[in-house]
Amino acid sequence: MFERLRGTRDFLPNEMAARKKVFSTIKKTVEEFGFFETDTPAIELFDLYSIKSGEEIIEELYAFEDKGGRMISLRPELTPSVVRVLVSKSKELSFPVKWYSIPRLWRYERPQSGRLREFYQLNIDIFGSEDARADTEVISCAIKLLCDLGFDDSDIEVRVSDRRLLQEFLLTLGITNFHDVLRIIDKREKISQNDFKGMLFDINLDDCQINKIETFLDSKGDLLQSIEELSKNHKGEGISKVIESLKKIAQNLHDRGYEKFISFDPSIVRGLDYYTGMVFEVHDRKREFRALFGGGRYDNLAELFGGEHIPAVGFGMGDAVLELMMRRKGIWPEEKLELDVFIATIGNVEKEVSKVSTVLRDSGFRVDFDLMSRNLSNQIKFATKLGARSLLIIGERDLKDGNITIRDLETGKESKILLSEVVSSPSKHLTKVL
Ligand code: HAM
Repeated sequence: MFERLRGTRDFLPNEMAARKKVFSTIKKTVEEFGFFETDTPAIELFDLYSIKSGEEIIEELYAFEDKGGRMISLRPELTPSVVRVLVSKSKELSFPVKWYSIPRLWRYERPQSGRLREFYQLNIDIFGSEDARADTEVISCAIKLLCDLGFDDSDIEVRVSDRRLLQEFLLTLGITNFHDVLRIIDKREKISQNDFKGMLFDINLDDCQINKIETFLDSKGDLLQSIEELSKNHKGEGISKVIESLKKIAQNLHDRGYEKFISFDPSIVRGLDYYTGMVFEVHDRKREFRALFGGGRYDNLAELFGGEHIPAVGFGMGDAVLELMMRRKGIWPEEKLELDVFIATIGNVEKEVSKVSTVLRDSGFRVDFDLMSRNLSNQIKFATKLGARSLLIIGERDLKDGNITIRDLETGKESKILLSEVVSSPSKHLTKVL
């Protein structure tokens, strides 16, 4: 017997049934926001990730040399792939482009709760618009999606910031090695305060700078109010533009009735290197789990990939934390099989079974029948295990009068009916499990 690789999952049909429901709700919501589905290969050139995804993700790549001597990697995230496609097709596209995808991704991480080596991730991105309305669409879509799945503002918190705010603040402290500082700040929630300070000392920051950074990172609060505060305390053209854009986002989210979900949190910087502006993360309020969503604005990636300037904003949401959170709230769909009709047989009625099953399947019913020549009681037990809604019993004796039996397996109600009746109007007599 072989073992499954660590950090990967097998999904049995009943588990898939629940996952399909969740994924279909996700797709429905995202499409209601006007996003269109795309897909890209699971393997890409290694260099696609070395340009701007950041050291952390490079360390986690499943990379190998192929038979042609090229360095290849399984995709650890979708963003570089979508930007690659966008750059190559930008002449044919009408902007803004709103795309989504639910790829399977691979990261060689230490498997733990909510973090696996193989997972699915919903990605939505808007390309071509620098407007704060694009940022708001993306954040709103994240919120609406969670509401449609059954969460509310008591379960989740969307923490918003802008990387440029922190950079501007670091400049006022005379700190210019943003890259190193941001990387350490991104780790802050996962390490002790001493380790955090130690790491900042190691990149030559002093006590006074570290204390000021900590105070700044802890200045969390209501988004609209915090932005008002910031605009009083920070002047200057660069920072004013950032504050103005955050204000628009906050106001727009307020207009949509989403203010209860949102908070301002300057400690959100994101681990990936390509973000250039607004950044956000979604967490469960009790902080039992790792981040559910991460996203933000990344306006320079298309140019770095050799294309024109194409501003972009989007997010990724992993299925692993989502499942943990839905289970904790008791809203993960029941993991059971579903079938519309099972045909049980008595005697030699093969011809009739072939005919009825074909007619029903042509009418869109999900139909199965006995392939093991079992007795009736075992066929019924099997039908129940398959989650069949209706049972048709076709027996040699009844057929002499043209009759068969229909049993509703949910209510137990049973009746005799002419086979010809069922064949001529199946939807009148049988119900589909939705
Ligand atoms: P990310 O923060 O690396 O961002 O991942 C986003 C989400 O994917 C996380 O919040 C988490 O739910 C899920 N995720 C990440 N790593 C794992 C893992 N090892 N196991 C299970 N789930 C995981 C990105 O990937 C960006 N490319 C998102 C983006 C799209 N930004 C703009 N557009």
